[in-house]
Amino acid sequence: MARQVAHEINNPLTPMKLTIQQLIRTKHLDHDSFDAYFEKSTQTLIEQIDNLSRIAGTFSQFARMPETKFTKVDVAAKLFSVVELFKNNHENIDISYSGVEKDVCVNGDAEQLLQVFNNILKNATQAIKDGTKGKISVELETINNEILIKFTDNGVGIPLPIQQDIFKPNFTTKSTGMGLGLSLSKSFIENMNGTISFSSKIKTGTTFAIRLPKEHESMLLHSEDI
Ligand SMILES: Nc1ncnc2c1ncn2[C@@H]1O[C@H](COP(=O)(O)OP(=O)(O)OP(=O)(O)O)[C@@H](O)[C@H]1O
Ligand SMILES: [Mg+2]
Repeated sequence: MARQVAHEINNPLTPMKLTIQQLIRTKHLDHDSFDAYFEKSTQTLIEQIDNLSRIAGTFSQFARMPETKFTKVDVAAKLFSVVELFKNNHENIDISYSGVEKDVCVNGDAEQLLQVFNNILKNATQAIKDGTKGKISVELETINNEILIKFTDNGVGIPLPIQQDIFKPNFTTKSTGMGLGLSLSKSFIENMNGTISFSSKIKTGTTFAIRLPKEHESMLLHSEDI
């Protein structure tokens, strides 16, 4: 993992250095074209810096993994707040929530649940192509002692040949992706004794389903004993 991150960080560094060297050269040699080149290259540099900070962010998700902290978490409240956040940031996509807005608890890690919901919703928004009216629905229901959360998008769908790969670390079909969102989400959910699955149809959309055991008092006592 450390080697992978070193590689990901090293990748943008070379073009960044070249861009700056070129900028210096243009300033000395060619005053006329300097302004245009300055605009273009600073934009490129900002994009590359954003990319590096995203990599650092993802790495710290991994680095934080061993510090799993299980407590009683209101998963409904957490999910509802993430959905609200996405609604505010994606006004062009119709994002709906159905289910109670609080008081459904799991024994789990609050921070990791947040990351899982973020990752899945981010993937859903990225799956919706420009020009189509995006729709994402999030549903939460409780069936006996199990909580079922479904995320359905009307995006591009996942082609059959890659369906077996999407939970693998580093698997991505995106030019800017790290391929870590789903593999992290799967390990977080399985750590909380849950499961994550999906069904998808090309050009129609995808549904991700998360199942988690409802929290019991005894489970909490047990986890505190350990
Ligand atoms: N809702 C979805 N619709 C279509 N394809 C999806 C969806 N969710 C995931 N995928 C596919 O699964 C791949 C792996 O997803 P994952 O979240 O692990 O990585 P990523 O989104 O590519 O990169 P990262 O999450 O690290 O930014 C994606 O590249 C994409 O091909
Ligand atoms: Mg992702």
